[in-house]
Amino acid sequence: MTEISSKPKITSLDIARSWCKENGFIFPSSEIYGGFAAVYDYGHYGYLLKENIKKLWEKSMSQERNDVLLLDSAIFMHPKTWDASGHLSSFSDVLIEDKKTHVRYRADHLVEDWLNSKTKEELEQIATQLTNESVKEMVVKRNLDKATPEEIYEIMKVSKFPGLENYTVPRNFGLMVKSNLGVTDGTITDENAVYLRAETCQGIYLNFKNVLQSYRMKLPFGIAQVGKAFRNEIVARQFIFRTREFEQMEMQYFLHPSMMSQKFEEWKNIRMNWYIETLGINPKRLRFRDHDKLAHYASAACDIEYKFGSIGEFKEVEGIHARGDWDLGNHQKFSGENLDYFDQETNERFIPHVLETSVGLNRCVMMVIEDSLYEEEFKDTDGSKNFRTVMKIKKTLAPIKVAVLPLSKKMELQNKSIEVQSMLKTHFFTQYDETGSIGKRYRRQDEIGTPYCVTIDFETLNDNCVTVRDRDTMKQDRVSISDLTDYLLVNLNS
Ligand code: GAP
Repeated sequence: MTEISSKPKITSLDIARSWCKENGFIFPSSEIYGGFAAVYDYGHYGYLLKENIKKLWEKSMSQERNDVLLLDSAIFMHPKTWDASGHLSSFSDVLIEDKKTHVRYRADHLVEDWLNSKTKEELEQIATQLTNESVKEMVVKRNLDKATPEEIYEIMKVSKFPGLENYTVPRNFGLMVKSNLGVTDGTITDENAVYLRAETCQGIYLNFKNVLQSYRMKLPFGIAQVGKAFRNEIVARQFIFRTREFEQMEMQYFLHPSMMSQKFEEWKNIRMNWYIETLGINPKRLRFRDHDKLAHYASAACDIEYKFGSIGEFKEVEGIHARGDWDLGNHQKFSGENLDYFDQETNERFIPHVLETSVGLNRCVMMVIEDSLYEEEFKDTDGSKNFRTVMKIKKTLAPIKVAVLPLSKKMELQNKSIEVQSMLKTHFFTQYDETGSIGKRYRRQDEIGTPYCVTIDFETLNDNCVTVRDRDTMKQDRVSISDLTDYLLVNLNS
C-alpha cells in the first residue's frame, strides 16, 4: 500500500469522548443513572493501555535504576497529613457562580476565556489600570492560575467583564474530598473526618523514614508510586484531562540541597526523553514550560506540556518541582518525629530536599490516543483508493498485541484458529474475531492499534502456516505456526 494522506483523528473533546466510548476504551461513569460528572471508567482496551503506560513508567523509574524504590501507600492517611502539607488551609480554586443559572465556574478560567478575546493592545490598556505589577503581568499573559479571588474580581471590574452583576463575588473553594471513618452514624465530625488523598506523594513523605531505614538507603535516592488521587474540581468538562478521581505516577527524589540544580536538569531530560523514546510521542507536540510564579518554598518548577488536538492548546501532563525541605520539614514539625538525615562522610545532619516528578496517568492515556490515532487515505495493492482509522501506537503500548482471524466461519478454520490463539494467549493479550469480511476485521484491529493480525486460511490446514499482517505497513508475511510465537515476540519488541 502507499499512503496518500494522513491526519489526526482527535480534533475536539466531543470526538475524543465518543471515539473512546464507541471503541471500548473509556466510558462515562454511572451512565445508566445519567452519568456522574468528571468521573470515568476504563473498558478492556483503555485499562490495558493505562496499565502498559504504568508498567513502562515503573520500568524506567525503578527497574532500570538502583536509586528509586517503589511504594504502594494507603489512600487514607492520618488527617494531620493534610494540615502539615498545607492542603487543608490552601488547596483551593477560585469559584464563581452565575446567579441565575447557578452554573459554577473556575473564575480564573472564565476570565482567561474573556481575556483571550482581547487584542494585545487591549490587554495592555487593561493592565495600565491595575496597580499590582504581578496582576498586570497575569493579564498580559492571560494566565490567572495563581490569582487570588480579590485579584480576579479586580480584573473583571477593570476589564468590564460582560454581565459582571450576574455573577457572585469570586471566592476560594477547597478541593479536598472529605469523608469519615470508624463506627459513626455517618456524620462527619472533627474526630472522624478523613480525606481522600489529593496527591499520592504525601504517602511517600510519611514513609521516608521507613524506606531509609529498611533498605539502608543513602542520599540521593527516590521513592515512586502510582495510585489514585481525588480532587473536588469545580468544573471538569475536559473529558479525562481533568477529573475528580484520577491516577498519578509520582516520584520524590531526596537529596542534599547542593545537588538540586544539577539533578533538576538531569530529571527534566530523563522525563522528556521518556515521552519521546518510550511512549513514542511526537516531539513537536511536547514542550517544557517553566513556572513564572513559584510557591514560597520552591526553587524551580517546570511542566512538560503536550499540544492536545482535542483542547487546541499545550496543556500540562507532568510537573517537575524543586520543593526544598518544605514537605519533610512540615511533617517533622506536625508529627514530632525526627525526619532528618545524617551523612556519615561529611558528618552533616540535615532535612533532605525533594525533587518531584509528578505525572497524570489519565492525561498520558489521552495524549497517547490523540498522538497515535490517524485518519489515513491509502492506495491498495490493486491501485484502488481506501480509507482507514489507524492507531499507530508503539507496539509495547498496544492493548491487544495479536488478533486471530479465521478467513471464514468453516468449522475446520475456527478450530485451527482457536488452537493458534490458545498458543499465543500465554504470551500476549489476543483477540479472536470471525464476524464480517476480513477487510472489516483488519480495520477494527487497526483502529484499536493491534500491531499484528494472524489469518488462518484453507492453506493453513495443509501447510501449517498463517498470514501475519503488519498494522503500519499492511505488509503480509507467511509464517509457520511453529515459528509464530518467536516471530511475534521479536517483532513486538522491535
Ligand atoms: N504532587 C504534586 C502534584 O500533585 P499537580 O500539578 O497538582 O502536582 C500533578 O498534579 C499531575 O497530576 C498534573 O501534571 C496532571 O497531569 C495530574 N492531575 C492533576 N489534577 C488532575 C485532575 N483533576 N485530573 C487528571 N489529572 C490531574
